[in-house]
Amino acid sequence: MKISLTGIKPTGNLHIGNYFGAIKPALELTREYDARYFIADYHALNTMRDPAELKSCIREVAAGWLAAGLDPEKVIFYRQSSIPEVFELTTMLMAFTAKGLMNRAHAYKAAVQENAEKGDDPDAGVNMGLFTYPVLMAADIILFDSDVVPVGKDQVQHIEMAQDIAQAVNHTYGEEVLKVPQAAVQEDVAVVPGLDGRKMSKSYNNTIPLFVPEKQLRKLIMRIVTNSQTVEEPKDPVSSQIFLLYKLFSTSGEQRDLAARYREGGMGWGDAKEELFRVVNRELAPVRDRFNNIIADTAALDRVLAAGAEKARPIAAATVKRFRKAAGIE
Ligand code: ADP
Ligand code: TRP
Repeated sequence: MKISLTGIKPTGNLHIGNYFGAIKPALELTREYDARYFIADYHALNTMRDPAELKSCIREVAAGWLAAGLDPEKVIFYRQSSIPEVFELTTMLMAFTAKGLMNRAHAYKAAVQENAEKGDDPDAGVNMGLFTYPVLMAADIILFDSDVVPVGKDQVQHIEMAQDIAQAVNHTYGEEVLKVPQAAVQEDVAVVPGLDGRKMSKSYNNTIPLFVPEKQLRKLIMRIVTNSQTVEEPKDPVSSQIFLLYKLFSTSGEQRDLAARYREGGMGWGDAKEELFRVVNRELAPVRDRFNNIIADTAALDRVLAAGAEKARPIAAATVKRFRKAAGIE
């Protein structure tokens, strides 16, 4: 079985964009792949400085994946910070990473450009964690002999950098030292719209969080921005954000029925939102219940992650050993 690996950065509450754009597709892959999924907590450290918040984010994201159906018996599920080999490999990979490659990383370039626009020093506010982010990520991936890395489009450059770095090592010591990974970009995954019609994102403050209580979920859905068409007017489902969201949660029969009601006229936006709430809550209620049970027992959750780390470490150690041997360090 080929190996699929992905990292999940614990930097905020999970929302339904994450659910459809990242969680569901990655869980689909666990049927065909030997999957290794982890919480990238050291990556989060670059930006998250409130210890209580980081801790709760780590637990929420871990519990969220389990509630969404990740089976820790099948998937090796762990925290990056529990695998010291990640950092050994990072240091070794640094020696094979051109500084110029890091200068071209999108996130670093964006920070430098923002500084230039403000007339600040180019590296103002840039820490080495941000600058070397792609090397740590390459280590995450290469350490576990990953064949494919399911990610969103924004992460493709990082996978390409991991390929470059692995190839530089193999070029020096032989092809068998490190596995060169491939990105698995889910082209067909829809961009989930947020409450204001833009892409749902925590940076836009327009999200529907996955685990809000039912009442609050309903309130949020009622806040979705609509146009000023009256109840009587026929409406176009294709251009409606509400309908777009409805499609993610409903059967094709339900979609046909609601589309017909849109086109007939006589249905106001309030009714469309009620229909949306009904199907969203139908799907999310069991996930929310599982989440609440998991998060209530943090000791058990920590045990699941510790057991995952136990399974991960021998794999990681073997890669580091292979590399050290090839390099003459062992
Ligand atoms: P955010 O934009 O809220 O900061 P992240 O960048 O942390 O979200 O995204 C984590 C994962 O969820 C990524 O794989 C990303 O592609 C996916 N994702 C985030 N928002 C959406 C969305 N609106 N539609 C589809 N996928 C999304
Ligand atoms: N950089 C990824 C993100 O921002 C998270 C991540 C860290 C990751 N290490 C990884 C993803 C390894 C895939 C493989 O979403």
